[in-house]
Amino acid sequence: MTCVKIARASAPAKVMLFGEHFVVYGCPAILGSIDKRVSVTAKQTESEKININSNMGFLASYSSESLDKPGPQFSEAQNTLYPIYAAVHDVLKDHFEVDGRHHGVEIDIKSDIPWGAGLGSSAASCVATVGAVKSLFLKPEKEWVYSRALGAERIIHENSSGADCNISTFGGLIYYIKDTRNKKISSKAELSLVVLITGIKHSTRSQVSFVKNFRNQNRSLFNDLANRATRVCDKAVSAMRSGDIIKLGELMNENHMLLKDLGVSNDEINDLIRFCLDNGATGAKLTGAGGGGSVVALLSNENQASFVRKLGKKGFRQYFPVRISSYGLLIE
Ligand code: MEV
Repeated sequence: MTCVKIARASAPAKVMLFGEHFVVYGCPAILGSIDKRVSVTAKQTESEKININSNMGFLASYSSESLDKPGPQFSEAQNTLYPIYAAVHDVLKDHFEVDGRHHGVEIDIKSDIPWGAGLGSSAASCVATVGAVKSLFLKPEKEWVYSRALGAERIIHENSSGADCNISTFGGLIYYIKDTRNKKISSKAELSLVVLITGIKHSTRSQVSFVKNFRNQNRSLFNDLANRATRVCDKAVSAMRSGDIIKLGELMNENHMLLKDLGVSNDEINDLIRFCLDNGATGAKLTGAGGGGSVVALLSNENQASFVRKLGKKGFRQYFPVRISSYGLLIE
């Protein structure tokens, strides 16, 4: 009787507090992992297929022999889950080179991270999947998981800064610059945050390519916005270290204005931000790629509960308080 190998891993979602988009061009960003996670179970099978099942409404099957490119030959589910498939394929390829066998794997994804909401669900799924699949063979180092998950993400979103995979792997509150080691930030005050989801799904890839065109056509304006975003980010680190929540909120508002000038905000996002600021938030901004997705609001500890009640009274349905969590990738 052969013994079926099973491995499990989980990884967190993130909020980007400063620097999105500009981080793709080498500016710093500040982001934190949050208390929403994706859990992945990987089971080795006798077939030569990679089957992916998720509670996000997608179910897809691929060949474990060849890495077909995403495209019209694939179903919508196959295209959506493609980076996860690419991540699994990449890990299995190493083992094929060792023992000449195509290993089949069944992946089961359970996520409490809203999909397409700018909270890093795709990166977290890739990180947890790489962690789980590799653990079928041996327990990987986090650094290794990060580079494989990022490789898979970059198949779809070539210019990814790596920020989402990085925070999901290592966790915590970090100051991040593309292709360098992140630095942990220790915030003196606990950050009371609330995420509000616009309900408009966005594609990070198309938002990033929109910014690329903007930059090509408005180079000096882009450089000016990027320099200002860098200064905002650096001041935000000082505000976190000294626990100055009022200053931090102001800096979030300033960062949002820069993103607005970049053209990645929209009326829905701006209306939610207005609501947050009118109802006690010290700062609010879009988080992630924009064009929909989510808004993150910063509150003082005393205001968070009453702010959440106001959102309920107003009839908002998609919002939740979040805590920065120190846990990145966890392998069982
Ligand atoms: C997406 O969560 C963040 C962006 O800055 C893209 C990236 O960092 O690769 C928009």
